[in-house]
Amino acid sequence: MAARLEIEGGVRLRGEVAVSAAKNAALPALAAALLTSEPVRLPNVPALADVETMVRLLETLGASVGRAGDELSVRVERVVSDLAPYELVSTMRASVLVLGPLVARHGTARVALPGGCAIGVRPIDQHLKGLAKLGAEIAIENGYVTAQASRLKGARITTDLVTVTGTENLMMAAALAEGTTVIENAACEPEVADLAALLTAMGARVHGAGTARLEIQGVPELGGAVHRVVPDRIEAGTLIVAGAITGGDVTVTGLVPAHVAAVLATLDECGVALETGPGWVRVRGPERPRAADVTTSPYPGFPTDMQAQVMTLLGLADGRSRVTETIFENRFMHVAELARMGARIETDGAIAIVRGVPGYQGAPVMASDLRASAALVLAGLAAAGVTTISRVYHLDRGYERLEAKLAALGARIERRA
Ligand code: EPU
Repeated sequence: MAARLEIEGGVRLRGEVAVSAAKNAALPALAAALLTSEPVRLPNVPALADVETMVRLLETLGASVGRAGDELSVRVERVVSDLAPYELVSTMRASVLVLGPLVARHGTARVALPGGCAIGVRPIDQHLKGLAKLGAEIAIENGYVTAQASRLKGARITTDLVTVTGTENLMMAAALAEGTTVIENAACEPEVADLAALLTAMGARVHGAGTARLEIQGVPELGGAVHRVVPDRIEAGTLIVAGAITGGDVTVTGLVPAHVAAVLATLDECGVALETGPGWVRVRGPERPRAADVTTSPYPGFPTDMQAQVMTLLGLADGRSRVTETIFENRFMHVAELARMGARIETDGAIAIVRGVPGYQGAPVMASDLRASAALVLAGLAAAGVTTISRVYHLDRGYERLEAKLAALGARIERRA
């Protein structure tokens, strides 16, 4: 039987907890190693199922991967295959991040189309349109995208919507293109800026990282680099909500407080006491949160990856909150499970109306995707009685040792085989 988490709720969490490096920055950083024959060393890669999947994919493409503690060192002396097979891409959509680097370095790439997933349809049309602008010939056949170009050429690209991995793919491709590329409407997420920092360390010329206009002057070759991956702002936000929802007193360390500003603003509205300092946030939970309205949007707006967790807190608020999800069309999978724990939430399309209840009750629940699993863990921490969460492999994709970190704060949480 797959692993489950068992949580006996009702403990006020106390103490200090450090965040790991960001999954969503580690994955593009690993893919960037395809751009050079020299080693790319990442000293702080989190131990996550998604990282393992990316490593396996890179190995099939020709990478040799070394590990020493938290350090991963990836060297792709020669690309031996241009194929990202369906078996891997279907388990992790971020596999599509090899598309840009492969075509830029190797001249061809064949990547399985990811298809939809639990949170939405998630097409990659913007990745493909951008690569076509850079001169790649794109074809879709038998469920695979093939891209081909003897050398990509710089171009002006305006994406029709803000896409995180799309921006990353295009930035990596443009780094080795001939001439200058401008990406307008680029994603401003810290993970995109972190990739720009790594590419710069590898010898790329990237300007405007962290803004909606990226300018990349292509170079013929990139070299190796050592790069520390940016802290995980979503893990940080999740731990901050854990402190708040249990009425606890938790200091989350090792994060960049500015990266969680939108989440902190909402929590502040909810009456959560917050203090921030360089690299830390201290959170003290109120007896009962106040209601607040939340609308997800690209960075620096409220992140979709924190919507489920904050909705779980709002589910206990004194009053009615409205949560609007603008990024993904099916990201309310946690709602039905929270209802099994006593939450009163109604959804209508992209809007959820949350009528706060005074408490949750422990229940057996099922995780459906990464952030929904985190929401169920938070609900379990706050609930009276025992909550058993099945399908925790979703959680293991993106949270490093979450139950150990929560247990160190006093939570009664155990993994059962
Ligand atoms: N979209 C398109 N066409 C495209 C690309 C995106 O229509 O070519 C749409 C998507 O369907 C979605 C929206 O644009 O509705 C935004 O998608 P985006 O491309 O930004 O998402 P992503 O790059 O696939 C990354 C994170 C997600 C996070 C989103 C939004 C990684 C590996 N994944 O996904 O993280 O939710 O950005 O911030 O960086 C998670 O960690 O749980 C997670 C899902």
